[in-house]
Amino acid sequence: MTKKALITGIRGQDGAYLAKLLLEKGYRVLGADRRGGDLNLWRLRELGIEHEVRMVYVDLLEPFSILHVIETVQPDEVYNLAAQSFVQASYELPVITAQVNAMGVLYLLEAIRTHQFGSRFFQASSSAMFGRVRQVPQDEKTAFYPTSPYSVAKLFGHWITVNYREAYGMFACSGILFNHESPLRGREFVTRKITSTLAEIRYGLRDRLVLGNLDAQRDWGYAPEYVEAMWLMLQADTPDDYVIATGEAHSVREFVEKASEVAGFDLVWQGEGVDIRGVDRRSGKVIVEVSPQYFRPSEIEILRGDYSKAKARLGWSPKTRFEQLVEIMMEADLRRVREQIG
Ligand code: NAP
Ligand code: GDD
Repeated sequence: MTKKALITGIRGQDGAYLAKLLLEKGYRVLGADRRGGDLNLWRLRELGIEHEVRMVYVDLLEPFSILHVIETVQPDEVYNLAAQSFVQASYELPVITAQVNAMGVLYLLEAIRTHQFGSRFFQASSSAMFGRVRQVPQDEKTAFYPTSPYSVAKLFGHWITVNYREAYGMFACSGILFNHESPLRGREFVTRKITSTLAEIRYGLRDRLVLGNLDAQRDWGYAPEYVEAMWLMLQADTPDDYVIATGEAHSVREFVEKASEVAGFDLVWQGEGVDIRGVDRRSGKVIVEVSPQYFRPSEIEILRGDYSKAKARLGWSPKTRFEQLVEIMMEADLRRVREQIG
């Protein structure tokens, strides 16, 4: 029988890739959407699946909409990808962030428990929960130390998922996802901000890329591979929690350097601290600078994940490495700008 999957956060990066994966596997995919309209369906459109996903109205802040959709759809699998997912914004919008990222998870779990259709549940948890990291690399047993309203709320989402599994025997899994990127990443996140802005500079549409902390290190993977891990978790014999990562950490500075190279710049750094400048040796122009505007009240210095458990139990391993990821993203943005300017 055709399986039905409900995906919250369908308009986001992961929602789009997961919908594509599940459609390819023969699922009927229902996208939980809080807005309606087709203005922001660009990701589904880019993947050529906008007409294949059936949209249903759900806002994670509206528990009745969740109860109603679980009752009418009776999904075999529920993937909770919806979130206020931008860490920086969570300092400005802590209450909304907590409501969506923490309470939203509980509303979903409670709706699934109430209706008892046996829906399997995936929660998109975050490596940001490790925050002020207690060890490097981080694995499923590493102590959490969240350092932003975003990650504190995600920690509730993680533990309530574990709690519903243990208390009620629900098939509920938490994927502790390290940063994962792609050409479909939002422009507010540093990787896509870098590649989209450098592409615009390359073709004369902009002068500068202005960034915050260049020294932060992240374990950046390729998003289409991460949604496959989500699916694998729900196909396992027993529910569990898994770190999904590449095992490599790179700095924002390294990302800028590699992306600049792919974009055809010859970047050299001049100065230090907030006065540092990235200069293109070919044109002599400053193309990168730093502004304290993008520094965070509390920063995560390094994230690097140990994905051994996912490899051993799910047979999952990352395939796309850092340099290749930067190339994929930079080339996609160069292509987009070329198409835009004709
Ligand atoms: P994303 O592109 O920001 O997508 C998040 C989606 O959540 C958006 O489509 C947004 O809808 C939706 N949303 C926000 N508030 C909502 C609400 N109240 N009700 C219903 N939907 C709501 O995020 P992503 O990168 O795909 O990440 C997917 C999930 O994985 C998120 O939960 C994120 O926190 C988590 N995660 C991501 C990463 C990563 O590196 N990408 C790493 C760890 C964990 P609109 O389009 O309507 O705004
Ligand atoms: N966004 C942004 N913009 N980040 C910058 C900038 C800038 O101009 N300059 C430097 N950074 C640094 C941030 O301070 C942070 O240390 C790092 O780049 C990565 O920032 P983001 O790309 O915004 O990602 P994040 O690590 O804070 O959060 C992402 O990954 C989490 C998993 O670890 C998001 O996808 C979260 O939703 C996710 O949970």
